Amino acid sequence: MPHYVVLGIETSCDETAAAVVRHADGRGEILASVTAAQIAEHAPYGGVVPEIAARAHVERINSVIAEAMAQAGVDFNDIDGFAATAGPGLIGGVLVGLATAKALALARQKPLLAVNHLEGHALTARLTDGVDFPYLALLISGGHTQLIQVEELGCYRIIGTTLDDAAGEVFDKVAKFFRLDFPGGPALERLAAGGNGNRFDLPRPMLGKPGADFSFSGLKTATIRLANRLLQEQEGEVLDASTASDLAASFQCAVIDCLAGRVAVAMEMLAPKGYNRFVLGGGVGANASVRERLDSVAQEWGFRLVAPPPSLCVDNGAMIAWAGAERLVRGWRDALDAPARARWSLEQGATA
Ligand code: KG4
Ligand code: ZN
Repeated sequence: MPHYVVLGIETSCDETAAAVVRHADGRGEILASVTAAQIAEHAPYGGVVPEIAARAHVERINSVIAEAMAQAGVDFNDIDGFAATAGPGLIGGVLVGLATAKALALARQKPLLAVNHLEGHALTARLTDGVDFPYLALLISGGHTQLIQVEELGCYRIIGTTLDDAAGEVFDKVAKFFRLDFPGGPALERLAAGGNGNRFDLPRPMLGKPGADFSFSGLKTATIRLANRLLQEQEGEVLDASTASDLAASFQCAVIDCLAGRVAVAMEMLAPKGYNRFVLGGGVGANASVRERLDSVAQEWGFRLVAPPPSLCVDNGAMIAWAGAERLVRGWRDALDAPARARWSLEQGATA
């Protein structure tokens, strides 16, 4: 079986990332993966500012690619295909990465792979653990919360999604209330560590209702309202340390209950169809308590959880390079006029 080396570029949000991945005999190997975060640029605003992100991508993309190539010990002659996120995401950033990949593909006369960012997350467990199709995937990130029936490459059915906020988004919004550093998810996880998750009774929207859809905004509002009430009671600017930690832990427990409940519904749907593998992707998948709980849900339903390492759950170039490599191996490629898309459902097919 031929070997393919693919350069992958990810610029859909606030990470400028590039990676070189080798696909050989169905197995993946990350030769290099480089990420330049933009935390300092966005921190003053408490969230990602699209215009600032696009400009930062332009400034960093060339050096990030050069660094990835140098670390991998390859030059452009060694690259068999150029992959970039073509959506969904912040359109200014997506345009920067996709245009770069197009220019490289054109200049080197090699295939372009216009990758759906969500497909990158959904396929990462195949890169890290060689998971076979079909499987159930849960993508939990700042922009998306989706349960996906992954039948085959390019064949995805969304069996549950969020009706309002994404899981990572509520972590970020609640963390902002706690005045934690941006991005809020990891900081909130640290605050919750050691806290009593049973101290405060918070809602678990959708839990026990039919279907596998999620909803988080009611939980977010209830958490912030409770925090405000506690603040008034304490007559202070900030909550005392143990109350803050208990509230963060109670919030995290509620999110995890919601995730676990909907994952159980999806497993109940798919187990009779012979599904027994469960894959995690997206930044919230880096959360240790989330991983632990989902592992026990998987065991209950006879599924094996494959959770890529946290560095490959958050946005990265390797997942895009790998998704591109999987497509390249099958002889798929994209035209040089492949569009950048702000919105792009996996069900629309992963090729333009
Ligand atoms: O997949 P990702 O890097 O970017 C998107 O595609 O959105 O996910 C970023 C999201 C952010 O909302 C971030 O706060 C959240 O994932 N996140 C976490 C953790 N690490 C990242 N949420 C909870 N616990 C974490 N440890
Ligand atoms: Zn992502």
